[in-house]
Amino acid sequence: MEQGQRIRATVYDSTLRGGGCLGLKDNVLIRTSPLVPPYTHHADGRSAKAYWIYKKVKKAIYGKVTVAYELEPYPSDPSAWRLTDRHVAIKMLLWEQIRRLSGRFEEDPIKEISAMQYLHNVTTTNGLGSTGGTEGGGSRHVCRTVEVLSDARYVYSVMPYLRGGELFDHVSRDGRFTEERARHWFKQILNGIDFLQSRGVCHRDMSLENLMVDSSNTLIIDMGMCVRIPYVSRSPGTPCGTMDTVGEGGRRSLIQQGTPCGKPNYMSPEVYRSTGPFDGHAVDVWAAGVILFIMITGVPPFDVPSERDERYNIVTRGGMMNMLRGWRIRMSEEAGELIQGILRKNPEERWEIRQIWESRWMQGAVDVPGDQ
Ligand SMILES: Nc1ncnc2c1ncn2[C@@H]1O[C@H](COP(=O)(O)OP(=O)(O)O)[C@@H](O)[C@H]1O
Ligand SMILES: [Mg+2]
Repeated sequence: MEQGQRIRATVYDSTLRGGGCLGLKDNVLIRTSPLVPPYTHHADGRSAKAYWIYKKVKKAIYGKVTVAYELEPYPSDPSAWRLTDRHVAIKMLLWEQIRRLSGRFEEDPIKEISAMQYLHNVTTTNGLGSTGGTEGGGSRHVCRTVEVLSDARYVYSVMPYLRGGELFDHVSRDGRFTEERARHWFKQILNGIDFLQSRGVCHRDMSLENLMVDSSNTLIIDMGMCVRIPYVSRSPGTPCGTMDTVGEGGRRSLIQQGTPCGKPNYMSPEVYRSTGPFDGHAVDVWAAGVILFIMITGVPPFDVPSERDERYNIVTRGGMMNMLRGWRIRMSEEAGELIQGILRKNPEERWEIRQIWESRWMQGAVDVPGDQ
């Protein structure tokens, strides 16, 4: 198909109840305002929109992620659409799967969608993270939703299409990054986490697979396991845990453990042990430390964050640089100091984002990748 091409698509069998009409037929997803069938765009072209789903990019736990083109109403032809060159990614989650797996995993697609919508709404008011990282608005590094649609079969979460692939693929392709290149990505990742923290959100599944590249930008995706960080307000009479208290300097409290979740490589020891409540900030920072280690060395520091893993013991006892020398992998002293500060077993001793920003390594030069 080519840009400007006419696509004929009419949805006769809309399954959406209530307000608008939605239908997926021949890979064309049409959203119109309430109309009588057939649901073309002619009665109210203003709110009609359609997407042409043209390929699946990845299987997702509850369905799949597809790439689609936006379609616009074809002038003077009510049952036709015109192909634009605007891409979107659509995460299509099967209702049947959501019902069947409900409660079995920590990953919750409904929570994911509401978190993305919540973050989208707060983004438009103030995009800055709390510690004001040097690279500007952290919201630029968190993927937002364009819209969320639903019919009897699927929930469709429409997002900007991030065409550079997973950051994981970039590390795999290059083997590892130079420290300057790693610094470029790490600053953005930190800004993204900082933004989430400033909005009281703990991601819980930070990994190189959940960081998408778009040109020289990286964005955090996959909010399926995120949780709200409970805050205790300082001002008496203010309801506990409201988002407002985050910005007002409320004291954050611990999150109750559920099932340990996330990928074992990136999981913090307290989540892996799963014996008590945990600090939502510290778990995402831990994962960021593992991400940085992998970017610089090309390999994960250990397999599981447990005393059963000898490499974990070495790293958490401060022997990471020795271990790397044994592996004949070079890492600067500054990077070593930073990663050791992050990969501390005790979350209370683990460096916080502000300390990370102030570290020596973060002050170094960056190598911005060309458009890819
Ligand atoms: N906005 C997007 N643009 C491009 N690809 C995406 C986008 N969102 C997700 N993907 C791809 O789909 C994969 C699965 O999506 P994700 O939200 O991580 O689902 P899961 O919960 O199944 O891991 C991602 O790792 C990425 O490769
Ligand atoms: Mg994922």
